[in-house]
Amino acid sequence: MKKQVGIEALAIAVPRRYVDIEDLARARGVEPAKYTAGLGAKEMAVADPGEDSVALAASAASRLIQRNGVDPSRVGMLVVGTETGVDHSKAVASHVQGLLKLPRTMRTFDTQHACYGGTAGLMAATEWIASGAAAGRSAIVVCSDIARYGLNTAGEPTQGGGAVALLVSEQPDLLALDIGLNGVCSMDVYDFWRPVGRREAVVDGHYSISCYLDALSGAYRGWRERALAHEVVRWSDSLPGEQLARILYHVPFCKMARKAHTQLRLCDLEDGPGSRDSTPAAREEAAKSQASYDAQVASSLGLNARIGNVYTASLYLALAGLLQGEGAALAGKRIGLLSYGSGCVAEFYSGVVGEGAAKRMAQADVEAVLAKRERVSVEEYERIMRLPSDAPEALTPAPGEFRLAEIREHRRLYTAG
Ligand code: HMG
Repeated sequence: MKKQVGIEALAIAVPRRYVDIEDLARARGVEPAKYTAGLGAKEMAVADPGEDSVALAASAASRLIQRNGVDPSRVGMLVVGTETGVDHSKAVASHVQGLLKLPRTMRTFDTQHACYGGTAGLMAATEWIASGAAAGRSAIVVCSDIARYGLNTAGEPTQGGGAVALLVSEQPDLLALDIGLNGVCSMDVYDFWRPVGRREAVVDGHYSISCYLDALSGAYRGWRERALAHEVVRWSDSLPGEQLARILYHVPFCKMARKAHTQLRLCDLEDGPGSRDSTPAAREEAAKSQASYDAQVASSLGLNARIGNVYTASLYLALAGLLQGEGAALAGKRIGLLSYGSGCVAEFYSGVVGEGAAKRMAQADVEAVLAKRERVSVEEYERIMRLPSDAPEALTPAPGEFRLAEIREHRRLYTAG
Protein backbone atom coordinates (compact mmCIF):
# COMPACT_ATOMS: atom_id res chain seq x y z
CA MET A 1 0.00 0.00 0.00
CA LYS A 2 1.25 3.53 -0.85
CA LYS A 3 2.59 5.33 2.21
CA GLN A 4 0.20 7.98 3.55
CA VAL A 5 1.84 11.17 4.77
CA GLY A 6 0.29 14.36 6.03
CA ILE A 7 -0.89 16.31 9.04
CA GLU A 8 -1.51 14.19 12.14
CA ALA A 9 -2.44 16.95 14.60
CA LEU A 10 -2.34 20.72 15.06
CA ALA A 11 -2.34 23.32 17.83
CA ILE A 12 -2.67 27.09 17.82
CA ALA A 13 -1.38 30.01 19.89
CA VAL A 14 -2.73 33.55 19.75
CA PRO A 15 -1.84 36.89 21.36
CA ARG A 16 -3.62 37.50 24.65
CA ARG A 17 -5.43 40.59 23.35
CA TYR A 18 -7.66 41.51 20.45
CA VAL A 19 -9.56 44.55 19.23
CA ASP A 20 -13.10 44.49 17.87
CA ILE A 21 -12.99 45.47 14.20
CA GLU A 22 -16.07 47.71 14.46
CA ASP A 23 -14.38 49.66 17.28
CA LEU A 24 -11.37 50.15 14.99
CA ALA A 25 -13.58 51.27 12.09
CA ARG A 26 -15.36 53.85 14.25
CA ALA A 27 -12.04 55.17 15.58
CA ARG A 28 -10.82 55.61 12.00
CA GLY A 29 -14.05 57.32 10.87
CA VAL A 30 -14.82 54.42 8.53
CA GLU A 31 -18.26 52.88 8.01
CA PRO A 32 -17.97 49.59 10.04
CA ALA A 33 -19.56 47.67 7.14
CA LYS A 34 -16.41 48.32 5.09
CA TYR A 35 -14.38 46.21 7.52
CA THR A 36 -17.09 43.63 8.36
CA ALA A 37 -18.83 43.11 4.98
CA GLY A 38 -16.15 44.65 2.73
CA LEU A 39 -13.19 42.78 4.23
CA GLY A 40 -15.03 40.05 6.18
CA ALA A 41 -13.36 40.81 9.54
CA LYS A 42 -14.80 40.59 13.07
CA GLU A 43 -11.85 40.84 15.45
CA MET A 44 -8.11 41.42 15.11
CA ALA A 45 -5.37 39.89 17.28
CA VAL A 46 -3.02 42.44 18.88
CA ALA A 47 0.46 41.10 19.61
CA ASP A 48 2.62 43.01 22.11
CA PRO A 49 6.43 42.93 21.91
CA GLY A 50 6.57 40.00 24.38
CA GLU A 51 4.50 37.96 21.94
CA ASP A 52 7.03 37.72 19.12
CA SER A 53 7.22 34.98 16.49
CA VAL A 54 9.43 32.85 18.78
CA ALA A 55 7.08 33.08 21.77
CA LEU A 56 4.01 32.29 19.66
CA ALA A 57 5.76 29.42 17.85
CA ALA A 58 7.01 27.90 21.13
CA SER A 59 3.57 28.20 22.72
CA ALA A 60 1.88 26.47 19.77
CA ALA A 61 4.53 23.73 19.51
CA SER A 62 4.43 23.08 23.25
CA ARG A 63 0.64 22.74 23.14
CA LEU A 64 0.93 20.38 20.14
CA ILE A 65 3.36 18.12 22.00
CA GLN A 66 1.49 18.13 25.32
CA ARG A 67 -2.03 17.64 23.98
CA ASN A 68 -1.08 14.87 21.57
CA GLY A 69 1.43 13.01 23.72
CA VAL A 70 4.17 13.47 21.09
CA ASP A 71 7.42 11.64 21.90
CA PRO A 72 10.09 14.27 21.03
CA SER A 73 12.67 11.55 20.40
CA ARG A 74 10.54 10.46 17.40
CA VAL A 75 10.64 13.97 15.87
CA GLY A 76 13.49 14.32 13.35
CA MET A 77 12.74 17.77 11.90
CA LEU A 78 11.55 21.07 13.35
CA VAL A 79 10.77 23.79 10.80
CA VAL A 80 9.43 27.27 11.48
CA GLY A 81 7.83 29.09 8.56
CA THR A 82 7.87 32.81 9.31
CA GLU A 83 8.37 36.18 7.66
CA THR A 84 8.64 37.96 11.01
CA GLY A 85 11.74 36.22 12.36
CA VAL A 86 13.78 37.90 15.07
CA ASP A 87 17.35 37.52 13.82
CA HIS A 88 19.11 37.49 10.45
CA SER A 89 21.03 34.38 11.42
CA LYS A 90 19.73 32.48 14.45
CA ALA A 91 16.65 30.46 13.50
CA VAL A 92 13.34 30.79 15.30
CA ALA A 93 13.40 26.97 15.20
CA SER A 94 16.56 26.97 17.39
CA HIS A 95 14.82 29.13 19.98
CA VAL A 96 11.81 26.79 19.95
CA GLN A 97 14.06 23.76 20.30
CA GLY A 98 15.78 25.30 23.32
CA LEU A 99 12.60 26.55 25.02
CA LEU A 100 10.92 23.15 24.65
CA LYS A 101 14.11 21.25 25.56
CA LEU A 102 13.82 19.16 22.42
CA PRO A 103 16.51 16.57 21.58
CA ARG A 104 19.62 17.50 19.62
CA THR A 105 19.00 14.83 17.02
CA MET A 106 16.57 16.86 14.94
CA ARG A 107 17.12 19.04 11.87
CA THR A 108 16.11 22.62 12.75
CA PHE A 109 15.61 25.45 10.29
CA ASP A 110 13.35 28.34 9.25
CA THR A 111 11.67 28.78 5.87
CA GLN A 112 10.89 32.23 4.48
CA HIS A 113 8.88 33.32 1.48
CA ALA A 114 6.26 35.78 2.79
CA CYS A 115 3.04 33.92 3.66
CA TYR A 116 4.19 30.81 1.76
CA GLY A 117 7.00 29.95 4.24
CA GLY A 118 4.81 27.58 6.28
CA THR A 119 3.72 25.64 3.22
CA ALA A 120 7.35 25.43 2.07
CA GLY A 121 8.13 23.84 5.46
CA LEU A 122 5.13 21.51 5.26
CA MET A 123 6.13 20.29 1.80
CA ALA A 124 9.79 19.81 2.84
CA ALA A 125 8.64 17.75 5.84
CA THR A 126 6.05 15.75 3.87
CA GLU A 127 8.42 14.88 1.05
CA TRP A 128 11.21 14.02 3.55
CA ILE A 129 8.90 11.54 5.24
CA ALA A 130 7.48 10.19 1.97
CA SER A 131 10.99 9.67 0.56
CA GLY A 132 11.81 7.27 3.37
CA ALA A 133 14.72 9.44 4.58
CA ALA A 134 12.85 10.14 7.83
CA ALA A 135 12.94 6.41 8.66
CA GLY A 136 9.60 6.54 10.46
CA ARG A 137 10.25 9.79 12.30
CA SER A 138 7.82 12.72 12.35
CA ALA A 139 8.29 16.46 11.78
CA ILE A 140 6.92 19.53 13.49
CA VAL A 141 6.21 22.51 11.23
CA VAL A 142 5.26 25.75 12.95
CA CYS A 143 3.80 28.73 11.07
CA SER A 144 4.27 31.82 13.24
CA ASP A 145 3.83 35.49 12.30
CA ILE A 146 2.71 38.95 13.29
CA ALA A 147 1.03 40.89 10.47
CA ARG A 148 1.73 44.58 10.94
CA TYR A 149 1.04 47.48 8.58
CA GLY A 150 0.85 50.31 11.09
CA LEU A 151 -1.69 52.75 12.47
CA ASN A 152 -3.96 54.60 10.03
CA THR A 153 -2.89 52.62 6.97
CA ALA A 154 -5.18 50.87 4.45
CA GLY A 155 -3.73 47.57 5.62
CA GLU A 156 -4.44 48.30 9.31
CA PRO A 157 -7.73 46.31 9.51
CA THR A 158 -5.94 43.32 7.95
CA GLN A 159 -3.33 42.92 10.72
CA GLY A 160 -3.23 40.03 13.19
CA GLY A 161 -0.86 37.49 14.72
CA GLY A 162 -0.51 33.95 16.01
CA ALA A 163 0.94 30.54 15.29
CA VAL A 164 -0.23 27.14 14.13
CA ALA A 165 1.93 24.08 14.86
CA LEU A 166 1.51 21.00 12.66
CA LEU A 167 2.64 17.45 13.40
CA VAL A 168 3.54 15.80 10.09
CA SER A 169 3.80 12.02 9.98
CA GLU A 170 2.81 8.72 8.44
CA GLN A 171 -0.36 8.80 10.53
CA PRO A 172 -2.28 11.69 8.92
CA ASP A 173 -5.31 11.78 11.22
CA LEU A 174 -6.18 15.30 10.03
CA LEU A 175 -5.18 15.37 6.36
CA ALA A 176 -3.37 12.86 4.10
CA LEU A 177 -1.70 14.89 1.33
CA ASP A 178 -1.98 13.92 -2.35
CA ILE A 179 1.78 13.93 -2.88
CA GLY A 180 2.80 14.72 -6.45
CA LEU A 181 -0.37 16.52 -7.52
CA ASN A 182 0.71 19.98 -6.30
CA GLY A 183 0.55 22.85 -8.76
CA VAL A 184 2.86 25.86 -8.40
CA CYS A 185 3.06 29.34 -9.93
CA SER A 186 5.82 31.82 -9.04
CA MET A 187 6.70 35.30 -10.35
CA ASP A 188 9.03 38.17 -9.43
CA VAL A 189 6.67 40.98 -8.32
CA TYR A 190 6.70 43.83 -5.78
CA ASP A 191 3.21 43.43 -4.31
CA PHE A 192 4.06 43.26 -0.59
CA TRP A 193 7.48 43.38 1.07
CA ARG A 194 9.26 44.42 4.26
CA PRO A 195 12.74 45.88 3.80
CA VAL A 196 15.31 44.77 6.38
CA GLY A 197 15.02 46.87 9.56
CA ARG A 198 11.37 47.83 9.08
CA ARG A 199 8.65 46.58 11.45
CA GLU A 200 5.80 47.47 9.09
CA ALA A 201 5.16 45.83 5.73
CA VAL A 202 5.05 47.93 2.56
CA VAL A 203 2.20 46.93 0.30
CA ASP A 204 0.65 47.83 -3.02
CA GLY A 205 -2.72 46.59 -1.76
CA HIS A 206 -4.87 46.33 -4.89
CA TYR A 207 -1.95 45.09 -6.99
CA SER A 208 -1.26 42.42 -4.34
CA ILE A 209 -4.80 41.13 -4.81
CA SER A 210 -4.31 40.83 -8.57
CA CYS A 211 -0.93 39.07 -8.08
CA TYR A 212 -2.61 36.61 -5.69
CA LEU A 213 -5.37 35.86 -8.22
CA ASP A 214 -2.92 35.54 -11.11
CA ALA A 215 -0.68 33.12 -9.19
CA LEU A 216 -3.71 31.18 -7.95
CA SER A 217 -4.80 30.58 -11.56
CA GLY A 218 -1.42 29.12 -12.51
CA ALA A 219 -1.15 26.97 -9.39
CA TYR A 220 -4.71 25.64 -9.62
CA ARG A 221 -4.37 24.81 -13.32
CA GLY A 222 -1.13 22.92 -12.56
CA TRP A 223 -2.85 20.88 -9.83
CA ARG A 224 -5.91 20.28 -12.03
CA GLU A 225 -3.80 18.96 -14.90
CA ARG A 226 -2.24 16.32 -12.62
CA ALA A 227 -5.50 15.60 -10.78
CA LEU A 228 -7.25 14.98 -14.15
CA ALA A 229 -4.40 12.72 -15.29
CA HIS A 230 -4.70 10.70 -12.06
CA GLU A 231 -8.53 10.69 -12.35
CA VAL A 232 -8.85 12.42 -8.97
CA VAL A 233 -11.26 14.85 -10.71
CA ARG A 234 -12.83 14.84 -14.18
CA TRP A 235 -14.65 17.10 -16.60
CA SER A 236 -18.28 16.08 -16.08
CA ASP A 237 -21.58 17.72 -15.15
CA SER A 238 -19.74 19.31 -12.25
CA LEU A 239 -16.53 21.32 -12.65
CA PRO A 240 -13.26 19.75 -11.41
CA GLY A 241 -13.07 22.32 -8.60
CA GLU A 242 -16.60 21.45 -7.52
CA GLN A 243 -15.49 17.87 -6.93
CA LEU A 244 -13.45 18.98 -3.92
CA ALA A 245 -15.56 18.87 -0.75
CA ARG A 246 -14.07 22.15 0.49
CA ILE A 247 -11.41 24.59 -0.74
CA LEU A 248 -9.23 26.51 1.70
CA TYR A 249 -7.41 29.65 0.66
CA HIS A 250 -4.67 31.83 2.07
CA VAL A 251 -6.73 34.40 4.01
CA PRO A 252 -5.10 37.86 4.37
CA PHE A 253 -8.69 39.01 5.05
CA CYS A 254 -11.80 36.85 4.69
CA LYS A 255 -13.20 38.58 1.61
CA MET A 256 -10.04 37.49 -0.24
CA ALA A 257 -11.20 33.87 -0.01
CA ARG A 258 -14.37 34.83 -1.85
CA LYS A 259 -12.37 36.58 -4.61
CA ALA A 260 -10.04 33.57 -4.79
CA HIS A 261 -12.91 31.13 -5.11
CA THR A 262 -14.46 33.16 -7.93
CA GLN A 263 -11.10 33.10 -9.74
CA LEU A 264 -10.70 29.35 -9.29
CA ARG A 265 -14.19 28.73 -10.70
CA LEU A 266 -13.41 31.04 -13.60
CA CYS A 267 -10.38 28.87 -14.47
CA ASP A 268 -12.67 25.83 -14.72
CA LEU A 269 -15.40 27.71 -16.57
CA GLU A 270 -12.90 29.09 -19.11
CA ASP A 271 -11.01 25.85 -19.69
CA GLY A 272 -13.81 23.26 -19.67
CA PRO A 273 -14.91 21.46 -22.84
CA GLY A 274 -18.24 23.37 -22.99
CA SER A 275 -16.72 26.84 -22.52
CA ARG A 276 -17.15 27.72 -26.23
CA ASP A 277 -20.93 27.82 -25.75
CA SER A 278 -20.84 30.48 -23.06
CA THR A 279 -19.95 34.18 -23.21
CA PRO A 280 -17.21 35.71 -21.04
CA ALA A 281 -19.87 37.71 -19.17
CA ALA A 282 -21.93 34.57 -18.46
CA ARG A 283 -18.83 32.75 -17.22
CA GLU A 284 -17.92 35.64 -14.91
CA GLU A 285 -21.41 35.60 -13.47
CA ALA A 286 -21.35 31.81 -12.95
CA ALA A 287 -17.94 32.08 -11.28
CA LYS A 288 -19.44 34.28 -8.56
CA SER A 289 -21.90 31.55 -7.47
CA GLN A 290 -22.97 32.25 -3.87
CA ALA A 291 -24.10 28.63 -3.49
CA SER A 292 -20.65 27.34 -4.41
CA TYR A 293 -18.95 29.76 -2.01
CA ASP A 294 -21.34 28.79 0.80
CA ALA A 295 -20.88 25.07 0.18
CA GLN A 296 -17.12 24.97 -0.37
CA VAL A 297 -15.51 27.94 1.40
CA ALA A 298 -17.55 29.84 4.00
CA SER A 299 -17.34 27.29 6.82
CA SER A 300 -13.53 27.51 6.99
CA LEU A 301 -13.29 31.23 7.76
CA GLY A 302 -14.50 31.48 11.38
CA LEU A 303 -11.07 31.63 13.03
CA ASN A 304 -9.58 33.92 10.38
CA ALA A 305 -12.39 36.43 10.96
CA ARG A 306 -11.58 36.49 14.68
CA ILE A 307 -7.77 36.63 14.46
CA GLY A 308 -6.92 38.50 11.24
CA ASN A 309 -4.00 37.87 8.93
CA VAL A 310 -1.37 35.56 10.37
CA TYR A 311 0.72 35.43 7.18
CA THR A 312 2.23 31.89 7.09
CA ALA A 313 -0.41 30.53 9.48
CA SER A 314 -3.51 31.94 7.75
CA LEU A 315 -4.16 28.91 5.54
CA TYR A 316 -3.64 26.57 8.51
CA LEU A 317 -6.01 28.62 10.66
CA ALA A 318 -8.57 28.02 7.90
CA LEU A 319 -7.79 24.29 8.13
CA ALA A 320 -8.28 24.40 11.91
CA GLY A 321 -11.50 26.41 11.52
CA LEU A 322 -12.86 23.92 8.99
CA LEU A 323 -11.96 20.76 10.85
CA GLN A 324 -13.06 21.91 14.29
CA GLY A 325 -16.59 22.25 12.92
CA GLU A 326 -16.70 19.60 10.22
CA GLY A 327 -13.89 17.13 10.99
CA ALA A 328 -16.28 14.21 11.46
CA ALA A 329 -18.52 15.02 8.48
CA LEU A 330 -15.57 15.44 6.11
CA ALA A 331 -13.70 12.23 7.05
CA GLY A 332 -12.69 10.44 3.84
CA LYS A 333 -13.41 13.49 1.66
CA ARG A 334 -10.87 15.36 -0.46
CA ILE A 335 -10.27 19.08 0.06
CA GLY A 336 -8.12 21.60 -1.83
CA LEU A 337 -5.70 24.14 -0.29
CA LEU A 338 -4.21 27.27 -1.85
CA SER A 339 -1.13 28.82 -0.29
CA TYR A 340 0.07 32.26 -1.44
CA GLY A 341 3.15 34.23 -0.50
CA SER A 342 3.80 37.71 -1.86
CA GLY A 343 6.79 38.28 -4.01
CA CYS A 344 5.36 35.80 -5.15
CA VAL A 345 4.53 32.10 -5.19
CA ALA A 346 1.30 30.14 -5.00
CA GLU A 347 0.89 26.42 -4.47
CA PHE A 348 -2.37 24.48 -4.81
CA TYR A 349 -2.50 21.04 -3.25
CA SER A 350 -5.09 18.57 -2.03
CA GLY A 351 -5.56 15.95 0.63
CA VAL A 352 -8.09 13.60 2.17
CA VAL A 353 -9.47 14.36 5.64
CA GLY A 354 -8.59 11.58 8.11
CA GLU A 355 -10.94 9.49 10.21
CA GLY A 356 -9.27 10.88 13.35
CA ALA A 357 -9.85 14.56 12.47
CA ALA A 358 -12.65 15.23 14.97
CA LYS A 359 -10.71 13.61 17.82
CA ARG A 360 -7.52 15.51 17.00
CA MET A 361 -9.42 18.81 16.80
CA ALA A 362 -11.00 18.12 20.20
CA GLN A 363 -7.44 17.78 21.56
CA ALA A 364 -6.50 21.11 19.94
CA ASP A 365 -9.46 22.76 21.72
CA VAL A 366 -9.07 25.90 19.66
CA GLU A 367 -12.15 27.60 21.10
CA ALA A 368 -10.72 27.38 24.63
CA VAL A 369 -7.51 29.07 23.42
CA LEU A 370 -9.50 31.95 21.93
CA ALA A 371 -11.84 32.23 24.90
CA LYS A 372 -8.93 33.29 27.15
CA ARG A 373 -8.29 36.44 25.11
CA GLU A 374 -9.05 39.90 26.40
CA ARG A 375 -10.84 42.52 24.28
CA VAL A 376 -9.03 45.86 24.42
CA SER A 377 -10.04 49.37 23.39
CA VAL A 378 -8.59 51.09 20.35
CA GLU A 379 -6.59 53.36 22.70
CA GLU A 380 -4.99 50.31 24.33
CA TYR A 381 -4.31 48.73 20.92
CA GLU A 382 -2.58 51.95 19.80
CA ARG A 383 -0.50 52.01 23.01
CA ILE A 384 0.63 48.43 22.36
CA MET A 385 1.46 49.21 18.73
CA ARG A 386 3.70 52.10 19.85
CA LEU A 387 5.74 49.99 22.30
CA PRO A 388 9.34 49.53 21.14
CA SER A 389 9.97 45.99 19.91
CA ASP A 390 12.95 45.49 22.21
CA ALA A 391 11.24 46.45 25.49
CA PRO A 392 8.51 43.91 26.29
CA GLU A 393 6.12 44.55 29.14
CA ALA A 394 6.75 42.42 32.25
CA LEU A 395 3.72 40.14 31.99
CA THR A 396 3.49 36.53 33.16
CA PRO A 397 2.71 34.10 30.36
CA ALA A 398 -0.22 31.70 30.79
CA PRO A 399 0.75 28.16 31.87
CA GLY A 400 2.40 26.32 28.95
CA GLU A 401 3.04 29.54 27.04
CA PHE A 402 6.15 31.66 26.47
CA ARG A 403 7.02 35.38 26.30
CA LEU A 404 10.01 37.44 25.39
CA ALA A 405 11.22 38.78 28.76
CA GLU A 406 14.15 40.98 27.74
CA ILE A 407 16.96 41.48 25.26
CA ARG A 408 20.38 41.54 26.92
CA GLU A 409 23.51 42.14 24.83
CA HIS A 410 21.49 41.29 21.71
CA ARG A 411 20.39 37.95 23.19
CA ARG A 412 16.68 37.32 23.48
CA LEU A 413 15.61 35.83 26.80
CA TYR A 414 12.24 34.15 27.15
CA THR A 415 10.12 33.24 30.13
CA ALA A 416 7.75 30.27 30.46
CA GLY A 417 4.37 30.28 32.16
P1 HMG B 1 -8.91 49.75 0.75
O1 HMG B 1 -8.39 50.27 -0.53
O2 HMG B 1 -8.96 50.70 1.89
O3 HMG B 1 -10.33 49.13 0.61
O4 HMG B 1 -7.99 48.54 1.22
P2 HMG B 1 -11.29 49.06 -0.67
O5 HMG B 1 -11.70 50.40 -1.06
O6 HMG B 1 -10.67 48.16 -1.72
O7 HMG B 1 -12.53 48.33 0.00
C1 HMG B 1 -12.41 47.02 0.46
C2 HMG B 1 -13.74 46.33 0.18
O8 HMG B 1 -14.74 46.90 1.03
C3 HMG B 1 -14.25 46.50 -1.24
O9 HMG B 1 -14.87 45.28 -1.61
C4 HMG B 1 -15.29 47.60 -1.12
O10 HMG B 1 -16.27 47.57 -2.12
C5 HMG B 1 -15.87 47.27 0.24
P3 HMG B 1 -14.51 44.57 -3.02
O11 HMG B 1 -14.88 45.53 -4.06
O12 HMG B 1 -13.01 44.34 -2.99
O13 HMG B 1 -15.29 43.32 -3.00
N1 HMG B 1 -16.53 48.39 0.91
C6 HMG B 1 -17.69 48.27 1.59
N2 HMG B 1 -18.49 47.21 1.80
C7 HMG B 1 -19.61 47.42 2.55
N3 HMG B 1 -19.95 48.62 3.09
C8 HMG B 1 -19.16 49.70 2.90
C9 HMG B 1 -17.97 49.55 2.12
N4 HMG B 1 -16.98 50.39 1.74
C10 HMG B 1 -16.12 49.67 1.02
N5 HMG B 1 -19.50 50.86 3.45
C11 HMG B 1 -6.91 46.42 0.98
C12 HMG B 1 -8.24 47.16 1.03
C13 HMG B 1 -7.18 44.91 1.06
C14 HMG B 1 -6.20 46.74 -0.34
C15 HMG B 1 -6.03 46.87 2.18
O14 HMG B 1 -6.65 46.49 3.39
C16 HMG B 1 -4.62 46.29 2.14
O15 HMG B 1 -3.73 46.85 1.50
N6 HMG B 1 -4.39 45.14 2.85
C17 HMG B 1 -3.08 44.49 2.87
C18 HMG B 1 -2.75 43.77 1.58
C19 HMG B 1 -3.50 42.47 1.41
O16 HMG B 1 -4.07 41.92 2.33
N7 HMG B 1 -3.44 41.91 0.18
C20 HMG B 1 -4.09 40.65 -0.11
C21 HMG B 1 -3.45 39.90 -1.27
S1 HMG B 1 -1.68 39.69 -1.04
C22 HMG B 1 -1.55 38.46 0.19
O17 HMG B 1 -2.49 37.79 0.51
C23 HMG B 1 -0.21 38.28 0.83
C24 HMG B 1 -0.13 38.81 2.24
O18 HMG B 1 -0.81 37.96 3.14
C25 HMG B 1 1.35 38.97 2.65
C26 HMG B 1 2.30 37.80 2.47
O19 HMG B 1 2.27 37.02 1.53
O20 HMG B 1 3.23 37.76 3.29
C27 HMG B 1 -0.72 40.20 2.38
